Amino acid sequence: MSRYYLTTPIYYVNSTPHIGHAYTTIAADILVRHHKQRGDETFFLTGTDENASKNVRAAEQAGVDPKTFVDRLVEEDWRPLPARVGANPDFFIRTTDEGHHRFVQEFVQRIYDNGHIYEDTYAGLYCVSCEEFKTEEELTADGLCPEHGTRPEWIEERNWFFRLSAFQEQLLRLYDEQPEFVQPVHRYNEARSFIEGGLRDFSLSRAGQPWGVPVPWDPEQVVYVWVDALINYLSALTYARPGEDLRDEYWPVARHLIGKDILRFHCVFWPALLLAAGYEVPKQIFVHGWLLFGDRKISKSSGNVIEPLELVDLYGVDALRFYVARVTRFGQDGNASVDDFHERYERELGNDLGNLLSRTTALIARFRDGRLAEAPWDSPFRSELAKLAHEVPALLDAWDLSGALDAVWGVVRSLNRYVEERAPWQLAKDESKAEELDRTLYDLADGLRVVAVALASYLPETADRILAALGQPDDLVWQGVAYGRTVPAEGIAAAEPLFPRVELETAVA
Ligand code: MSP
Repeated sequence: MSRYYLTTPIYYVNSTPHIGHAYTTIAADILVRHHKQRGDETFFLTGTDENASKNVRAAEQAGVDPKTFVDRLVEEDWRPLPARVGANPDFFIRTTDEGHHRFVQEFVQRIYDNGHIYEDTYAGLYCVSCEEFKTEEELTADGLCPEHGTRPEWIEERNWFFRLSAFQEQLLRLYDEQPEFVQPVHRYNEARSFIEGGLRDFSLSRAGQPWGVPVPWDPEQVVYVWVDALINYLSALTYARPGEDLRDEYWPVARHLIGKDILRFHCVFWPALLLAAGYEVPKQIFVHGWLLFGDRKISKSSGNVIEPLELVDLYGVDALRFYVARVTRFGQDGNASVDDFHERYERELGNDLGNLLSRTTALIARFRDGRLAEAPWDSPFRSELAKLAHEVPALLDAWDLSGALDAVWGVVRSLNRYVEERAPWQLAKDESKAEELDRTLYDLADGLRVVAVALASYLPETADRILAALGQPDDLVWQGVAYGRTVPAEGIAAAEPLFPRVELETAVA
């Protein structure tokens, strides 16, 4: 038995969830569900990043205290997000949790005790939207933040600094020894060359701000929000299950899924902080691209937000999950649009998969009175399904969510060709071809059963419906991805469409 621990970034609460956030959460959920099917013991973490200084300002504007402000946003918008997109995290961490605060203090105290923190004055620019200190070179020619188009603030304050520069050699060694530490490989190269370029110490605390985790040896200061946020991946394991400490079991197999905008924090700062505190680094970090609308990142500030929950209401949760894996080669940027979403829903889900089930069940109902006989034979699907059983786990181990989905779709297409080639409606006209008809119907049903199991991590609701329509037990273990495991069934009726038509005009409105 293996263990699998996967995290999403923790989301800033000051915007409402959009398809960009749903993207990471869904992708992570697909991977975790898949590992469960393989019998792994899994832990899936997501949550919210609440100690940002921008929350203090937003709360002031709303006329409430920061805790009341974040509580409302988390409970209304963020905590419901995973369930709304069909994701099942094991724990939803909030960085305002008492257990998190306690652990952050312990963690930074260890770094302090290990001699990696010193006091100095910070004088420079800070972008509140990024929650990041900026150098002149990182800004546009007019001195604006390239991501937010806002002018960073000049800050001059006494801070506690983390000696990141001292970790350059150790980080380079880590990258050499673990060439798969960061994936895909171009992101590995990006992180590695950033380290090679020389590392600057950074402020690990902020002064004059009451919101956040107090620095244990200097409670006038709070821990810099990015440091506090990164620690969530470890702190959660200490209090997610009351009375249990999951660190021994899960930290050695920790994997982080993140977007490309937060690469440096995760691939450079985080391993250095862990080494400084005396912890192992995570096993792997996968960096995905952005979903673009036109060619701009979907974000609240650019006003081009696709509201994921609206798409879910119209098309169903599985349609959104499918799109996440389909819109682009996972890892790269992808262009999202309602038109593209709609087109794939109709063509791929509706025609390729939905019609295949409708047809298969209708044929069984019509020519065999709803009875599916056990008729495995020396079918071409034996080898095709055996190949799928190996291919999908290998691709998903390499984080290739779109490649694995393509592999399953290859089988869906084969099954569609098979109906046409074997023409069961012709076979049914000839009594001497009864066995051939049984075999054909069996292959179609068995192929669909396998497709349901293989797709279950992507399309959990659809998988259940396919199995039920074929009178098969709701068994999703990965060993089921093999030819000939379909059991005889009775009472099969022409299935309702899996993906009913949606008017595009309704979606766009
Ligand atoms: N709070 C920090 C993360 C701290 S993790 C220790 C943060 N939050 S965020 O809400 O701004 O972004 C969270 C994640 O959502 C990031 O991985 C980001 O890349 C992802 N996405 C936000 N918009 C996105 C798209 N349009 N497309 C894909 N993912 C994007 O950063």
